Amino acid sequence: MTAFIVQPARRPLSGQIDIPGDKSIGHRALLFALLTTRPVWIRGLGGGADNGRTARAIGQLGARVGRDGDAIVVEGAGLGGMQAPAAAIDCGNSGTTIRLLCGLLAGQPFRAELFGDESLSRRPMRRVIEPLRAMGARITGRGPEGADAGAAGDVVPPLVIGPLAERLVGVDHQLAIASAQVKTALVLAGLQADGVTRVTEPGPSRDHTERLLAAMGAPLQVSADGRTVTIDPGAWRAAGGELELPGGAIDVPGDPSSSAFLIAAALVVGADTVVCRGVCTNPTRTGFLDALAAMGATIAVESPRQVGGEPVADLVVRGAAPTLRGVELGGDLVVRAIDEVPILAAVAARAHGTTVVRDAHELRVKESDRIATTVAMLRAFGVEATAQPDGLTVIGAPDRPLAPGRVDSASDHRIAMAGTVLALTASGPSRIDDVGNVATSFPSFVAVLTALGAELAEAP
Ligand code: S3P
Repeated sequence: MTAFIVQPARRPLSGQIDIPGDKSIGHRALLFALLTTRPVWIRGLGGGADNGRTARAIGQLGARVGRDGDAIVVEGAGLGGMQAPAAAIDCGNSGTTIRLLCGLLAGQPFRAELFGDESLSRRPMRRVIEPLRAMGARITGRGPEGADAGAAGDVVPPLVIGPLAERLVGVDHQLAIASAQVKTALVLAGLQADGVTRVTEPGPSRDHTERLLAAMGAPLQVSADGRTVTIDPGAWRAAGGELELPGGAIDVPGDPSSSAFLIAAALVVGADTVVCRGVCTNPTRTGFLDALAAMGATIAVESPRQVGGEPVADLVVRGAAPTLRGVELGGDLVVRAIDEVPILAAVAARAHGTTVVRDAHELRVKESDRIATTVAMLRAFGVEATAQPDGLTVIGAPDRPLAPGRVDSASDHRIAMAGTVLALTASGPSRIDDVGNVATSFPSFVAVLTALGAELAEAP
């Protein structure tokens, strides 16, 4: 259980950072490479522990995973060539690993067991298990009292999947809450099903699955509004049912959820020039940038280009800490910024007036209860903040120095990093406890922030 000791920033931040690869796209690149039978070079993987869990999982399912310089090379098994894992698959802290694997393994003729760490063992799985069961999947988990739930409460890991005797059947499923993890699980199950599978979401969740699988020749269609994905595998399967990555290589663009911490730091401290290079600007991921614009920040989006089928740009912050104002955030924007709410709340603490976040009930079931842990993190610095069932309110007071804080990150990487950024504006050294899980998404966080001129050290 390591900690960060963070010193107040003494000068504007400055520097250029190549943002490590996007975690969501990294999971998909690895998992979909398992489904091909030609080698795939994955360049620019972020190096976080969560992607590492997916890499090990595909190894257990029959892929050969090696290195070629900076690239990871995956020799896949193909959708029909996967092998039964010899041991239970450890998904660590990674909700994306476990939920995506549920969909993939639901259609396989072998049994697999999936488990994770303490945080993952509390995360709700009914949202993915129920529609998969409707497709014919055999999948059980643990209920709140130890038995398989089906009654009150949710189903949590460990999960046991399969073996499936017959083929899955397609379903038409409406998600109550937008979720790219559930959507992707159903798409992966739909690829293995008889008939058509249709998944409709109430909001625009990230669409990396659709982009990558379509590029690989999957029989998938997306509606004009982006909210319905249809998989009709009949003709595709009759023609051999192959997936193949054109060129045999994928470049993973930089993770906007990681760059958010650096952009926020540059805004609250001030920046000579801070450049986050190569950030994915997929519109399903830019809610954070839109929220900052509404708060009065100017983030330059420079050199827009395409990388790995995704829009990418360099994000640049220049100048003294701007005068920011509080905003009201809700609806689709919150879906597009769901992982950035803790760091947005930290920025809101340094903005004039009140910021209100609504429609973010999902935050209750992330790596921690992020409504509770974000509010506790803010209060640790003396910031006035309150929790609501579906969001939070932050009273910004940028003219008042923040008290040095002692933050318990609750083993949540995004709370640890948001607390660290806010600590840069405190009146004395702060301590952020239990920061080990920063390595799940952004292992170079300390090095990068230090390179920009912040002073922080790891402590036992
Ligand atoms: C992710 C989807 C989101 C996000 C998570 C990663 C993904 O979760 O919060 O960090 O890679 O598909 P939900 O699908 O539960 O919204």
